[in-house]
Amino acid sequence: MEVVIVTGASQGIGKAICRQFASEKKAVIALSRNTNLLEQLTFELSAQTPIWHFMLDLADPRSIEHGISQIKALLQSHPYLQLKGIINNAGIYFHNNPYDQRQDLWLKHMQINFLGHVQLTEALIKTLKAFAPSFIINISSTLAFQVKPGTGAYAASKAAMNQWTRVLALELAPQIRVNAIAPGIVDTPIHQPTLNNQNDGANDMKKEWGKLHPMKRIGNPEDIAQACSFLADHQRSNWITGIIMEVDGGIHLI
Ligand SMILES: NC(=O)c1ccc[n+]([C@@H]2O[C@H](COP(=O)([O-])OP(=O)(O)OC[C@H]3O[C@@H](n4cnc5c(N)ncnc54)[C@H](OP(=O)(O)O)[C@@H]3O)[C@@H](O)[C@H]2O)c1
Repeated sequence: MEVVIVTGASQGIGKAICRQFASEKKAVIALSRNTNLLEQLTFELSAQTPIWHFMLDLADPRSIEHGISQIKALLQSHPYLQLKGIINNAGIYFHNNPYDQRQDLWLKHMQINFLGHVQLTEALIKTLKAFAPSFIINISSTLAFQVKPGTGAYAASKAAMNQWTRVLALELAPQIRVNAIAPGIVDTPIHQPTLNNQNDGANDMKKEWGKLHPMKRIGNPEDIAQACSFLADHQRSNWITGIIMEVDGGIHLI
């Protein structure tokens, strides 16, 4: 049975990706820090597909190491599971002002959004290769391309992810296809701190954000999960590797 690993599975886009793969009868290994939310997701999806969850903090290399051992032990004790893919989705976003000299914010963004995923992925490449054809999908952002004040640390972490995607795609072809998805603004809890600071209601703000996109709405987590499903499918996307797919209601056009 095919199994996929999803980071940042507890909410938002990662949760929608788990639901999508469960609906396709792929087994899921769900990772994040919030075990309560992971337990709820496991309860929700377990009628559809085998699902396991592990607590893994991408900010802490020892926690990642521990998670990798748990995943390897699970695969060893369930030899029918074939690791087919990793979706590197977890991420944080904090506004940062260059005058604040917040080196801690830079380190956090680089570690959680980028380096933590490099550590997790590199430890599992041999396993992915053993079950080829397999895939890696990195969840990037339009902010890796668009230039917006206050986004330096986040944008740099996603730009690093994009270039890593391309290099890895070349290194791992033809056995493992490696692609990224760059979403526009998607309706998830990542925006809650910004929405809490608005005088207008959250729904009005989301409508305003929607108008920034040529498709005149912000995205749903399912928009990204559908793109993941496509890039994970070796029939439908067999000749695609090393791309950064913009799934963004057309915001990259303006
Ligand atoms: N929403 C958007 O508008 C948007 C746009 C472009 C790109 N993206 C990208 O899409 C991805 C998912 O974002 P989202 O919008 O779904 O955000 P979200 O709702 O805030 O979810 C973020 C996920 O990342 C996990 N996470 C955060 N810090 C972590 C850590 N230290 N260790 C392990 N997991 C951690 C969280 O789980 P725990 O708290 O349980 O650890 C959560 O499951 C991110 O990479 C984000 O940059 C989002």
